[in-house]
Parts: sequence; structure tokens; C-alpha cells
Amino acid sequence: MAALPLECSQLILIPLNPLSSAMARDPGRVLIFDTTLRDGEQSPGASLNLEEKLAIAQQLARLGVDIIEAGFPFASSGDFNAVQRIAASVGTPDGPVICGLARAARGDIKACAEAVAPAAHRRIHTFIATSDIHLEHKLRKSRAEVLAITREMVAYARSLVDDVEFSCEDAGRSDPDYMHQVIEAAIEAGATTINIPDTVGYATPTEFGELIAGINRCVPNIEQAVISVHGHNDLGLAVANFLEAVKHGARQLECTINGIGERAGNASLEELVMALHVRRSYYNPFLGRPAESTTPLTAVHTEEITKTSRLVSNLTGMAVQPNKAIVGANAFAHESGIHQDGVLKHRLTYEIIDARTVGLSDNRISLGKLSGRSAFRARLEELGYSLDGEDLNDAFVRFKELADRKREISDRDLEAIVSEQVQQQGEARFLLRRVQVSCGTGLLPTATVTLETTDGEERSEAAIGTGPVDAVCQALNRLARVPNELVEFSVKSVTEGIDAMGEVTIRLRADGVLYSGHSADTDIVVAAAQAFVNALNRLVAGGQRVPLHPQKAPLPVAEIPRL
Ligand code: KIV
Ligand code: ZN
Repeated sequence: MAALPLECSQLILIPLNPLSSAMARDPGRVLIFDTTLRDGEQSPGASLNLEEKLAIAQQLARLGVDIIEAGFPFASSGDFNAVQRIAASVGTPDGPVICGLARAARGDIKACAEAVAPAAHRRIHTFIATSDIHLEHKLRKSRAEVLAITREMVAYARSLVDDVEFSCEDAGRSDPDYMHQVIEAAIEAGATTINIPDTVGYATPTEFGELIAGINRCVPNIEQAVISVHGHNDLGLAVANFLEAVKHGARQLECTINGIGERAGNASLEELVMALHVRRSYYNPFLGRPAESTTPLTAVHTEEITKTSRLVSNLTGMAVQPNKAIVGANAFAHESGIHQDGVLKHRLTYEIIDARTVGLSDNRISLGKLSGRSAFRARLEELGYSLDGEDLNDAFVRFKELADRKREISDRDLEAIVSEQVQQQGEARFLLRRVQVSCGTGLLPTATVTLETTDGEERSEAAIGTGPVDAVCQALNRLARVPNELVEFSVKSVTEGIDAMGEVTIRLRADGVLYSGHSADTDIVVAAAQAFVNALNRLVAGGQRVPLHPQKAPLPVAEIPRL
């Protein structure tokens, strides 16, 4: 397509012509690029350990995402190892592309190439800002310098892998004419995907659609690359912006499970996928298909959505708001009598999605007290969790303990047990051995706790608190001696009924960084103690890590490319 320089310097709203949308290289569907493990993990307090990242990556593969952005390998050895392990175990020939993030700097790109190397399909995602505000205040570079860095670093990345994504950070506030030059240079240097991030969540749907249309119109070599979009939810518009971008030729959507991510989060995967699923006939023509085509617009297995959402929420400690679209607890609940009556008469009166489409079952009773190890393992496998050896044994012991206290064990109970098992894998400095509390009217709430440290030593402490949970936390703090401030404590029940397990999420702050811990038990004081210990273990492990933030950290001097 020839460039139209006069039109390209102006903001022109062209009428949409759905059937002529396939201007960019078109993968034939909308690619889903999941960045839960990279941008999602940038949510305050959401940092994950290696086992948790692996469990999420495996579930993302089952969900059917096309690309997993597994982390920022240059940030720390922990991030590097996680990307490499995911590349080795999830990046199979029929699995997703495994991608790592790298700033436009040699050291970042080299580390990224090494980390994704074990994957059958691997990608380097490199980025540099293109907005004047970022150039002037963050990078302190001229437009010409950024253009030259883009050429040099994309070419370097392309010398290491065949699949290179380039992002114009803060594209939403960049001068389109300058950004078009940078994109053209990136494609010339070998970029196969061009990503357009609305980094600060500032764009509105019409503007964002026009930004993508302008790229399609004005970048002469754009047909050699897939156009991708990335966006934050500061104004709650990320999903709407992306759907508008699809109408103008974007064919890759960068999103996260439950919409977690930097500040107000990223565009939510489940909302995008379900919008494209439910409104397929509306979007089909923008991909050059007849409206009535039944071919799915994405490769996502929608029935895996609920399970993936719960896993991510449990492991990151980021609760899903009850009214959240698609995965919130109330998303399929009808409260008003008129609605209930309508749904009973005909489901479609008030429902646009059958809950089973997103894998929301009737929370069926799966196992009981007499169920054996193989039934337990088989049910876990049906739910998509594979535990072996010690991990399976430990989870089975927890299941038996629970079955003694709770008559019926549902899938949600099993998910709670397994997600906690995953959280406790890896190096844990403290193990909770015993908790005992006495509380009630006329008593001072008192807790006695026993912790085991990595050298096998058991130590006990007692404390008085304002309530039993406070007393437990104080006693644990006396033992652990790791300065921290408790900033959040929340309890919710896993299932209905008086014998339900309580799920506790705790967030601690130390040196301005948040660490979360999560646990479930029929005794909420025990769950609170275990969640507190899980958060302390993360704090201790995280304190040794001090990761670089991909967008906030300046380039190390040695890494600033020489021009
Ligand atoms: O928000 C953003 O701009 C990013 C880029 C690194 C893609 O996360
Ligand atoms: Zn982002």
C-alpha cells in the first residue's frame, strides 16, 4: 500500500469498510497474546514464584492462547529462570509461542533470546518509547536517536530469533507521523509484529481505532507485519479500545487474565474473547468473513476461562470484584424476581452467555471422605491440575483432613487446596507447624504459634492481640523478625454452607513493596496464619530479588546503545 503523506499528517476518520480490512498481514483470526505473567505480574503485590508461574503458563496453554509473554528475563535471575522453564515445558511444538520482554538494549535482548531459546516457537518483544514526553523526560533522547536505536536493536533481535515484536511505548500519546517512521524502520529491520500500546490508558475507542487505521494507511510496509494492540485500563476503556482496533485491522490483542496489570490493569482477556465470541456475527465482516460464519474468531477454549481466572486470582492474591464481567461471582446471578422469572421461562430473556460456555459448572460435588488417591488424582487431572510425587501426597493429606471436617468436597474446594499447594512449592523459609488461639467474650485474644525454619529448628511464640487473627500475626512476626506492615486482610468463603472453607488473602508491605499470601481452610484463623506465612516467605524471597521494572528502570549505562 502506498503512503499518503498529506492524509497521514492529519487525523482523518475514514468510513469503515469491513470487507476491505485485511490490509496488514492477516493471521486469519485474532491472536490472543497473554501478558499475565509479565504486565500482570507488575500489579502491586502480585509477584509469583517459579512454580506458580509454571502452573499459570500451563493453564494458559490449555486455555489456548497463541502467545504467552512469560516475563522480562533481564530483570533478575528469577525472571530469567522462570521464562526459561516455561519455554522448556510449555513451549512445545504444538504449544503457544513463548515470548520475553526486552528493552531496546543489547543486554536485554541477549538475555531474552537465551531465556526463550528452549521453546519450539519463541519471540523477542522489544520496545522503546516514541512519545515526546517519554523521549524528553525519561529517555533524554532525540527523535533521530530513538529511530536509530529502533533499527539497530530490532535488527539485533532478528539476528537471534525469527519472530520479533516491536512496541512503540506510549503510542497513544505519540505524534502519529513520527511513530509511522519508527514503525516503518522496525519492519525494515525485521519486526514481524508491531505493537501499539496505550501505555497510560488515555485513548478513547474512536481515537484508538483511528490510530490503527492511520498505521494501516500510512506505513508503506505495514502488510509485512501483524498489528497488535496493548492497553491499560486507567479510564476503563481498554477492552472497548481493542475491539475498535480489531475493526481497523489489529490482529493481535495483548491482555491479561482478570485484567490484572500495572495501575488499573490491562485489557481483560476473558472480556475480549467473550465479546468476540458472543458478537461474532458483528465482528466477522471486519475479518473479511461473512457475518454468519461460525468459525471462532480466536483459538481460546472458552470453557477454560473460569478455571484460569480462579487460578490467577488464587496465586496472585488479587481478588476478582463480584460484578466483574464474565468471571465475577455475580456475573451469572439473577437477583431480581422479574429476571429470575424470565430466565426460568426462557434463558435468553436475560442471559447473553450460557455460564457453561465459560466453564462455570454447578460447582459439582466431586469427592467425599471415602474417595481414594486415584480418584483424587483423576479429578484433579479433569480439572486441569497435574501434581506428582510429594506434591500430590501433600495435597492428598490436605484433602483427607478437609474431608474429615467437611461432608462434601466440591471442585472449588479442590482448586483451593491445589492452588495453595502450588504456592508453597519452592524455597519456603518458614513452615507453619502449629497454631492455637483462645478468644471469646471476657478473654484477651491470645495466640501461640510454632514455625519451623529451613534448618529444621522449631520455635514457638505467644502474643495477645485485638482479635485472634491479630494475635496470630503478632506471634508470627515475633518469630520471623522480618519488618512488615499488614495492609490487607480479607476472608471469603469458597463455597456455600456452614462447613465451607474460608479463603484468606493477606498483603504485607515492606520497603514500599507489597507481598501477598493466600490460604484456605475450614478454620479461618488457621487459614489466616498460613496466608501470613506464605506472604512472609514471599517477602523474604522477594527481598533478595530486587527486580528491574521494564518501564521505570533506566537503561544501565553499559546498555545504552552507542549511535
Ligand atoms: O504498557 C506498555 O506500554 C507496555 C509495553 C512494554 C508493551 O507494557
Ligand atoms: Zn503495559
